Amino acid sequence: ELEGKRLVLVSNGEPYKHVYQNQNIEIEKLAGGLTTGLDPMMQKDKGLWIAWGRGEADFEVVDQNNKVKVPDAEGYTLKRIKLSKEEKNGFYYGFANEVMWPISHTFISKANFKKEYWQSYQKVNKKYAESIKEELHSDDLVWIHDYHLALVPGFLSESNAKTSLFWHIPWPAWEAFRTIPWRQKILEGMLASDFIAFHTDLFVFNFLSCAKKIGAKVDFSAREVFYQGSKTKVESVPLGIDYQRFNNLAQDDDYLAEAEAVKASYDTEKLIFAVDRLDYTKGIEERLKGIDKFFEKYPEYKGKVTFVQRVAPSRTGIEEYQQMKERIEKKIAEINGKYQKDQWAPVKYFYGSVPQAELLPYYKAADLALITALIDGMNLVAKEYLAVQDSGVLLLSEFAGAAEYLDSALKVNPYNTEALADSIYQGLEMPETEKKKRLQKAEADLKEYDINWWRDYFLKKWVESYE
Ligand code: UDP
Ligand code: G6P
Repeated sequence: ELEGKRLVLVSNGEPYKHVYQNQNIEIEKLAGGLTTGLDPMMQKDKGLWIAWGRGEADFEVVDQNNKVKVPDAEGYTLKRIKLSKEEKNGFYYGFANEVMWPISHTFISKANFKKEYWQSYQKVNKKYAESIKEELHSDDLVWIHDYHLALVPGFLSESNAKTSLFWHIPWPAWEAFRTIPWRQKILEGMLASDFIAFHTDLFVFNFLSCAKKIGAKVDFSAREVFYQGSKTKVESVPLGIDYQRFNNLAQDDDYLAEAEAVKASYDTEKLIFAVDRLDYTKGIEERLKGIDKFFEKYPEYKGKVTFVQRVAPSRTGIEEYQQMKERIEKKIAEINGKYQKDQWAPVKYFYGSVPQAELLPYYKAADLALITALIDGMNLVAKEYLAVQDSGVLLLSEFAGAAEYLDSALKVNPYNTEALADSIYQGLEMPETEKKKRLQKAEADLKEYDINWWRDYFLKKWVESYE
């Protein structure tokens, strides 16, 4: 689909940061579905990725245009944008993560509608647009990502660039979106692009409904929005994973040995695993309530099942996130105090971001993976777990975008503590033949709708939208 055109991918989060480590500068991969998902694609396409440079040594390794090849000289080009401390606070912590994030996830009461945040958001979106313009060749395809950059298509409209937007998180119903004082301007910015895609049909429907409410003409069946003389096509294009990579890994002897070592290190019959960025959308507290109820209701599992919870720090500058960390740690201490016996404790907790490679043995070692998001755009961890498993069970929140596509997972409403405890039991007791049947079904879907499918389908629909 590219036909000689260059892909210019723009996101707030960068795929790699550079940090100081014992006098040396080292490269690290960042956690989060957007960057872990898109990096393999860019490794193949070799385009240009423009993103905020958040690593402490990021600007030590770039050239005079703030560019660097990642992950190494053979890789693709990353152009880094510098944000001042004020911009980081107002744009990133402020508007992106205290307005757009909570509202998109329908957590209205967690939003903080400060006018200064909005001003900073506009300013930084302009800054991204300027940085893109500096790079623009006539037939580039400018692919903008996520809720940090909703205004960028609008700021690029004069340049005649081909722009599209992929929204990695949910799009809420009008009842939530309408609470943003600057809702009209946000939609106007987005609707300047030719093509906008979400993970699910529900998000598409919500978006079209919001567009109609602000006065656009909307064709719901064709999924087209007409606004201020331009047309925007809207689609659902669910993000997939690099299935081949995960599947190859699952056949690798060293990897299998690592997974066995992980399992052995816990000295437990069954291992339950969860990993999330520390975020209120992930339902970590609800999950812990479910674990508590599980050991209360099924005490025969005491000493036999260990729950490993890893959390990656995220947006630590926001109070809501700091408070949540404290509540989680308190709850874990309470559960461990309540059920531990001899050497065994029910919950093992790790706080810290690790390269994805370090998580992968856990995926394989786990008899059960717990994903209890209260709402989630997609949730890639769900897909990654299934891709390496051959006898595990995925317990998946009905409210993750991934649930729309993974029929064979065990589904649960994470707010229903009793059901959560019972589903954990059901997952641990599931007969081998049923597990295999479910995994085979999932595998077929993950393989067909992988990251390559996603890229190709998105590009195809995008090109169709302006041809
Ligand atoms: N991840 C990682 N290191 C960690 C925690 C998570 O590399 O310490 C990766 C994980 O493998 C997955 C991504 O981060 O690819 C998380 O994506 P997901 O869609 O599940 O959630 P998000 O963080 O984007 O909300
Ligand atoms: C989600 C968002 C991404 C974001 C990631 C990590 O996946 O959709 O845009 O990059 O979380 O969050 P952070 O605030 O660390 O960039």
